[in-house]
Amino acid sequence: MTEIDTEKDKKKEVTRRGFLILLSGVLAGFIAFVLGIPFIASILGTAKKVKDKIFSRLTRVSTIPILSPINLNFETTKTDAYIKNVETQDAWVVKRADTDLTVFSPICPHLGCRYAWNSNQRLFICPCHNSVFTIDGKVVSGPSPRALDTLPIKIQHGELYVLYERFKVGIPQKIEVGD
Ligand code: FES
Repeated sequence: MTEIDTEKDKKKEVTRRGFLILLSGVLAGFIAFVLGIPFIASILGTAKKVKDKIFSRLTRVSTIPILSPINLNFETTKTDAYIKNVETQDAWVVKRADTDLTVFSPICPHLGCRYAWNSNQRLFICPCHNSVFTIDGKVVSGPSPRALDTLPIKIQHGELYVLYERFKVGIPQKIEVGD
């Protein structure tokens, strides 16, 4: 083997090494990109979920009686993977004045039963384990670990809108249930 051949072989070796380094760099970049897709999708998904929260129309504020809670049905629309789901929900509405309203989730914070307004006792009562709440949602007695859960509302052009949410039951903190 001549000196020139050795020099050529060295150059080839360098070129091959450079190629392998480049290839491994490209592969690493590709793997990072593929692994990163679910992460990016989850961030975008979370942002989309927040954006997809839509207020539902309940009723005209003027039709709600003062200090006499009523249970109203409404429809929620959720978009999941571009499929629209329409569900019927309900909530308890308490009006003190046209600009002073509270909307409660209909789910008892103890273990998730449905409570109701007792107009004789003027209390919300849950039939499952006898949790009792005031018209403001505060616990009077029973095992409920927290007050009734309020829902976000807004009033526009005399109409009451609510943002339906579900919360974890059986705990003192009001924590929204993730989908
Ligand atoms: S679920 Fe309402 S008191 Fe237990």
